[in-house]
Amino acid sequence: NTKYRPTAPIQLADRRWPSQVISQPPIWMSTDLRDGNQALFEPMSAARKLEMFEMLCRIGFKEIEVAFPSASQTDFDFVRKLIEENRVPQDVTLEVLTQAREHLIRRSFESLKGARRAIMHVYNATAPNFRRTVFNVDRAGCIRIATDAAKLVRECAEAQPDTEWVFQYSPETFSSTELEFALEISNRVMEVWEPTPERPAILNLPATVECATPNVFADQVEWMCRNLQRRDAIIVSVHPHNDRGTAVAAAELAVMAGADRVEGCLFGNGERTGNVDLVTLALNLYTQGVDPGLDFSRINEVARTAETCTQLPIHPRHPYVGDLVFTAFSGSHQDAIKKGFAAQDPKAIWEVPYLPVDPQDLGRTYDSIIRVNSQSGKGGISYLLESAYGLVMPRRMQVEFSNEVQQVMDDTGREQSAQDIWAIFERSYLTA
Ligand code: KIV
Ligand code: ZN
Repeated sequence: NTKYRPTAPIQLADRRWPSQVISQPPIWMSTDLRDGNQALFEPMSAARKLEMFEMLCRIGFKEIEVAFPSASQTDFDFVRKLIEENRVPQDVTLEVLTQAREHLIRRSFESLKGARRAIMHVYNATAPNFRRTVFNVDRAGCIRIATDAAKLVRECAEAQPDTEWVFQYSPETFSSTELEFALEISNRVMEVWEPTPERPAILNLPATVECATPNVFADQVEWMCRNLQRRDAIIVSVHPHNDRGTAVAAAELAVMAGADRVEGCLFGNGERTGNVDLVTLALNLYTQGVDPGLDFSRINEVARTAETCTQLPIHPRHPYVGDLVFTAFSGSHQDAIKKGFAAQDPKAIWEVPYLPVDPQDLGRTYDSIIRVNSQSGKGGISYLLESAYGLVMPRRMQVEFSNEVQQVMDDTGREQSAQDIWAIFERSYLTA
């Protein structure tokens, strides 16, 4: 990705102030069909799940959490459908979630019979208030739940040797758990699975409820990365939720702090305020000169499919994808964008003012960039006439004509389209 300027670390003579940048993408895991799905008014039907699954594959996700099969028959049947109808591309790994309970683990293995490769994702909550209030266990009891589950997963995996199994453990509520305890339970669970660098396991660290500033979450992740017993055999993953509205920042800082993998959903769907938005996260990398390895070059299609499957609208100001994000209303912005387009060398680093990304890279057009309302100036008005009607006005005429358009907008309070402006132009200059 040479079109966008990579972020350079801040270089100061004072070396005590280093700055980190992200120089390669994390492993991506989409949980749209699990965490995203479980947060919908109406969970997706099998047809919608399939539509979403196929789109996730086209975007380039190689790990997709497709279901919570022990929690619902629809989810169980969906996993069966993917396997029996041979719908999983060779390079895509199915993932399913299960609580750390015997019958649920067994049922989850049943759902995955015949899978080529699968991630069995086991979780139990580890934070003090969950231990006390929800499960009534002490630390030892909490560890026992997790290690018993890991032993059973190992047994079941050995009994289904035709599938290549990857083990994933989440200390749910990690970010609210005492760090030494989170480390202890993670180490104990991994001792049961015995991962190796050739056959690594995934340790997923969720901010189940985002409750601290992103730097604090990143510090927690960094401390885990530094202290884990078998770091060389463990893929450290993060699963940020967006309760404080800072999940994207938390994920970015966590990757800088050592996380290898990020779990989230398209456009930030997911429980409550959502999971981290993988679209924003990926495109933030792209516009910093790092290829995210995910294809959002037809982002409108992705957005419409996501809206259909989830029945949730995307906000018009959503980064990169919202209807308004490549639109400038104010005159000074329009003027700068117009000059920027004229000066942009197609082979050089992207530098059009006010547009952090070339809309064309996302399959969007320039059409809606310049829109004209009472905040706009002559630049936008003449741009619309020039681009839609090929009309180039001399400067004095631009000033005079924009006053007329301005008057119409002051009177009506309405945005004026290229056609509206052309009609004003015709009235003023072309009719006798
Ligand atoms: O948010 C969470 O902690 C989860 C876990 C089950 C990974 O979704
Ligand atoms: Zn979650």
